[in-house]
Amino acid sequence: MPSLVLNDQPVEIAADPALPLLWALRDVANLTGAKYGCGVGECGACMVLVDGQAMPSCTLTMAEAEGRSVTTIEGLARRAPGVARHPVLQALIDEQAIQCGFCTPGIAIALAGLLAHNPRPTDAEIAAAVTNLCRCGVYPRIVPAVRRITGPVAATTVASASAEGVEASEEGGNAPAAPGTATAGE
Ligand code: FES
Ligand code: FES
Repeated sequence: MPSLVLNDQPVEIAADPALPLLWALRDVANLTGAKYGCGVGECGACMVLVDGQAMPSCTLTMAEAEGRSVTTIEGLARRAPGVARHPVLQALIDEQAIQCGFCTPGIAIALAGLLAHNPRPTDAEIAAAVTNLCRCGVYPRIVPAVRRITGPVAATTVASASAEGVEASEEGGNAPAAPGTATAGE
């Protein structure tokens, strides 16, 4: 019987090791927040956090989930008294980034996974992390929802800053030499 840590609780789930995690969550553990959309890892409706990384649960078997830490939208919601829900949930509500709500658990999971590793993502990094499909078109409200948590974040990324530095250097610009870099005359 596969065992894993589910929403911070060690559990054994009576499911075939070949069963996708999504169906074990929905049909065995009665956690129905993760939704079935495409079934092939494309739409993001079924996303959960696995060891802190957002990933589709429709393409992960119970055998692959064995021994790992899985957090579902119910884990982010934390309805237990005295335990606050994850800030992405309130931000999505406050920004009204929800219409029918079918995609919302997956989007919340994607954002929670992003912010856990990158607390101040740029707009481009948010767009890259949230590839979930939404038939209602809430896309324009996702970045504003994140900004309710992070505040303003400059658009410049580490990669583009590095590229700018290379260009300045190639143009003979005034960019300072990196520590330990020999300069003419030394
Ligand atoms: Fe899993 Fe679409 S149902 S990604
Ligand atoms: Fe309806 Fe996204 S809010 S699918």
